[in-house]
Amino acid sequence: MRLALLGCGTVGGEVVRLLHEQSADLAARIGAPLEIAGIAVRRLGRDRGDLPVDPALFTTDALGLVKRDDVDVVVEVVGGIEPARGWLVEALRAGKSVVTANKALLAEDGGTLHDAAAEGGADLYYEAAVAGAIPLLRPLRESLHGDRITRVTGIVNGTTNFILSAMDATGAGFAEALEEATELGYAEADPTADVEGFDAAAKAAILASLAFHTRVSAADVHREGITEVTAADVASAKAMGCTIKLLCIAARGVDAAGRETVNVRVHPAMIPLTHPLASVGDAFNAVFVEAEAAGQLMFYGRGAGGAPTASAVLGDVVAVARNRLAGVRAASESAYADLPVRPMGEALTRYHVRLDVADRPGVLAAVAGVFARHDVSIATVRQGSADGSAGTTGRGGDAELVIVTHVAPDAALAATVAELRGLDIVRSVTSVLRVEGGF
Ligand code: NDP
Ligand code: HSE
Repeated sequence: MRLALLGCGTVGGEVVRLLHEQSADLAARIGAPLEIAGIAVRRLGRDRGDLPVDPALFTTDALGLVKRDDVDVVVEVVGGIEPARGWLVEALRAGKSVVTANKALLAEDGGTLHDAAAEGGADLYYEAAVAGAIPLLRPLRESLHGDRITRVTGIVNGTTNFILSAMDATGAGFAEALEEATELGYAEADPTADVEGFDAAAKAAILASLAFHTRVSAADVHREGITEVTAADVASAKAMGCTIKLLCIAARGVDAAGRETVNVRVHPAMIPLTHPLASVGDAFNAVFVEAEAAGQLMFYGRGAGGAPTASAVLGDVVAVARNRLAGVRAASESAYADLPVRPMGEALTRYHVRLDVADRPGVLAAVAGVFARHDVSIATVRQGSADGSAGTTGRGGDAELVIVTHVAPDAALAATVAELRGLDIVRSVTSVLRVEGGF
């Protein structure tokens, strides 16, 4: 079985190492030895340490390598949309099996890859693209195919989970926690894709596509990052017995016409400390799946890093190599349901709203009236400081109100907050956070 490796960086280097160290076991599991036919990189002269591989295998001509007749399996660990898309479409159409960790490409244009796989009768596997080492996509696309998944809620970005966990543990603000994450090597020099939620949104699109048998792309995902989360928000969450996590949520729903829909979103949210995802700390990932017959399932582990990600890549390599030897193909993409994606405004959420108001008679009634006008039902109201003490904050006759709502459409909650911001009795709306997880 001859393998073309595209990319030899953090993940690709570990793929090479594991292929070398486990060659005998892998050959036994597959039923044939696995050999590297070539390795495509950007810089031939780059120092690759003591990588156990023949330097003559390296090339900068990735497309040429993909097209070679002696290549059976193409493993892509370069990343990005182009030129990766062109290489993979070429490989799939030619009937070569593809294993990729490229979540950005799958979320942007997974349909093109699946179409090319169908055209070429080839396998397309991508376990490493979501939540690194955690076996998650195979359970969604195989083990749970006899069930009906209703909701997937995940912590799928390690960098932001590290930052939020640090804020929760130490009371640090976002900037301070990001600095620590960068110093420890969790956050990249440019952390935008992580802290603004782009990475999690790509993973959310992939999860939703598999869970709901519907093509969902990154453009369908409502996305908010964690840059606006403050130390006061974290303290407020604690006062309520909650913690703040960047969640990816993919949920089935029904629209006003009674049609089944899906909603896919990424945003920070409070979850109760009793929720299984609340205890997922540091840079770990976890995904909580709810299915009609199976009930609740939780998948937990390392979502990034060279070796954990390479583990998932090699699991796929073994699967596609076995299929090739047996002359079979895995089940193709399942997108038959083709459910419409519901806009964020129609998503049902709960809100935690913290506001500073004038402390005088009638203010609470006026604030409650705004919620009522938008048909948003209030669950709890607390007056006092964020640390939970009773009474006013003592800032020149102002008080702090913390309001938690029942479930309502996101648009109604947003309109409520917008109207509150316009009231002269409301000094400022200091925090608005969604509340998830059955609090
Ligand atoms: P790196 O940046 O460490 O490695 C990228 C590799 O691709 C390098 O070897 C680079 O060559 C090569 N490369 C870049 N451009 C080209 C090109 N035009 N032609 C040929 N080779 C090229 O990335 P990672 O290993 O971290 O990530 C790879 C993929 O895995 C991405 O899709 C990422 O999203 C995904 N992934 C990564 C995880 C992680 O923890 N790192 C976790 C899960 C998924 P050179 O070495 O010469 O620079
Ligand atoms: N940047 C990602 C994270 C890497 O922090 O989880 C894994 O996709």
